[in-house]
Amino acid sequence: MAEEYILEMRKITKRFGNVTALEDMDIRVKKGELHAICGENGAGKSTLMKILHGYHPYGSYEGEIYLDGKPLRSADTADSQRAGIAMVYQEINCLGTLTVSENIYSSKMLYNRFGLVDYRAMHRACSRIFESVGLDINPRERMGRLGASQQQLVLFAKAVKENAKIIILDEPTSSITKAEANNMMRVIQKLKGEGITFLYISHKLDEIMELADSCTIIRDGRSIGCLRRENLRSAGLFP
Ligand SMILES: Nc1ncnc2c1ncn2[C@@H]1O[C@H](COP(=O)(O)OP(=O)(O)O)[C@@H](O)[C@H]1O
Ligand SMILES: [Mg+2]
Repeated sequence: MAEEYILEMRKITKRFGNVTALEDMDIRVKKGELHAICGENGAGKSTLMKILHGYHPYGSYEGEIYLDGKPLRSADTADSQRAGIAMVYQEINCLGTLTVSENIYSSKMLYNRFGLVDYRAMHRACSRIFESVGLDINPRERMGRLGASQQQLVLFAKAVKENAKIIILDEPTSSITKAEANNMMRVIQKLKGEGITFLYISHKLDEIMELADSCTIIRDGRSIGCLRRENLRSAGLFP
């Protein structure tokens, strides 16, 4: 594999019973780019990214994933997380009765020297993360009391906090306001400047035209092409 690709997914086939969600799907992504994944509802976009994130474990699909040229065979999301992959799901998955900071630290709480959960340290760290992504949310608030848009943004902040090298966003702007989306875009541009790679599922063509360095188009579980930014318009798929 050419080293310029941070990620390559080769010949991915995924079936749910007799539904074939993905068939011989290939995708290649260069480091530090924002790679858009577009296609109609039911095309297989979320399934492909859930495979990368380990939600659908190795063995439940065919094909291979290469991260930095090495095979990635995650048994679960913790494996993918350790490999440097974070994902914000389309369906909001948070723990409503817990606080915002407990959600941010759900996989790895902070402890004090007595071995107790250090809530103050978590709240403080959360406030710093929120500040860095321009979010004004109280870390002590119960997650369930926030609106859908704020929950989505907290989960985005959580992905940023994981220091991942690849961040997957699944239709992130479908539930947030235009102002919040603009703010998210600013954070994405900043992180891209630091070499972080984004996989960005969207069916909003204006977003793709504005943000994407490259784009894979999926139809009925198959890739119908990978385009560079400069070719998006001339491909006739975009206005
Ligand atoms: N957990 C699942 N069980 C059964 N079928 C699924 C499951 N997840 C996705 N599918 C099916 O796989 C296909 C692709 O779905 P999905 O990846 O969610 O598409 P997209 O994100 O592009 O809208 C659809 O036909 C969908 O119904
Ligand atoms: Mg989807």
